Amino acid sequence: MLRRLYHDQPESFAFTPANQAWAEAQIKKYPEGRQQSAIIPLLWRAQEQEGWLTRPAIEGVAEMLSIAYIRALEVATFYFMFQLQPVGSVAHVQVCGTLSCMICGAEDLIGVCKEKIADKAHEVSADGKFSWEEVECLGSCSNAPMVQIGKDYYEDLTAEKFAWILDELAAGRVPTPGPQNGRYAAEPLGGLTSLGEFDSGKTKYNASAQLASDIGDTVKRIDGTEVPLITPWVKSEKAAAKTAAPKAKAAAKPKAAPKSDEKATVAAKKPRTMKAPRKAGADDLKMIKGVGPKLEKLLNTLGFYHFDQIAKWSAEELSWVDDNLEGFKGRASRDEWVSQASTLAKGEMTEFSSRVKKGDVY
Ligand code: FES
Repeated sequence: MLRRLYHDQPESFAFTPANQAWAEAQIKKYPEGRQQSAIIPLLWRAQEQEGWLTRPAIEGVAEMLSIAYIRALEVATFYFMFQLQPVGSVAHVQVCGTLSCMICGAEDLIGVCKEKIADKAHEVSADGKFSWEEVECLGSCSNAPMVQIGKDYYEDLTAEKFAWILDELAAGRVPTPGPQNGRYAAEPLGGLTSLGEFDSGKTKYNASAQLASDIGDTVKRIDGTEVPLITPWVKSEKAAAKTAAPKAKAAAKPKAAPKSDEKATVAAKKPRTMKAPRKAGADDLKMIKGVGPKLEKLLNTLGFYHFDQIAKWSAEELSWVDDNLEGFKGRASRDEWVSQASTLAKGEMTEFSSRVKKGDVY
């Protein structure tokens, strides 16, 4: 199957503030110089937020990781789990078409998709609510035939039951995921014939379906506010605000450039800008870690062409720049551009610029 960018792309992409914080936390999990390893989680979160991967989202993630756009595009086009075209506003349905499901009626389910959604896979339904595709085995063969809708599995389906589930979703209701024929999990349809003692004390639904019901985000776009449920190692907003408070107080005293989580306490002031670079030409701002081609262009548009300009930014000016990096807010302080630019303005190299020169950064 040919996988390429969709012909009609949105102008821009930005993570929600909560997703942005989540993405930055992901990047920090990797050692210095290996941040690009976070590419799949970041692309995935972009898709969870938007429903599909847009070109601005792919490029935005590439810039967050300081890699060339083509590297991110390679990943996005390689993995079929990334949707490169718009999907239904309510749900994208994945029908398993592999052996067990095919034997048990997957073709009937595909027939329902063609009738209720669109004749061809990856087309959005006339009302814009659904899209579908056939996928390979989803690992739930003992509950065939099955589909994945949003994040959850609907198993032991018949065409009628599946059509009902789509109708429910279209009406804004989310049927309980899991087996749809009365089975609890993958036991025989007539009930357990052995190991019956393990049947006691169970939850209403099997573990997967119970968790799916408890979380309740089956077809919800992920905006990051679900963080405590999905990534417990990231502090909840409340807890983060609590620990951030003393920092904010401390930030009132020092003159040093603020960290990104403290910048709200610093009044923003526009730095001096230039209409054009000096005669010798602009510096290669991509030598600064965190500045990709798109951000370099944006900096030039704002009137910044040289390392020594950036090196002179005060805390207030850094705050102004952070606020004006459309789509990349907070990047300048997060990646410590001022200190990097000070080194580069002196003609010295940073660890990152040395790697760029050697061709180790793509
Ligand atoms: S064959 Fe459908 S889940 Fe395995």
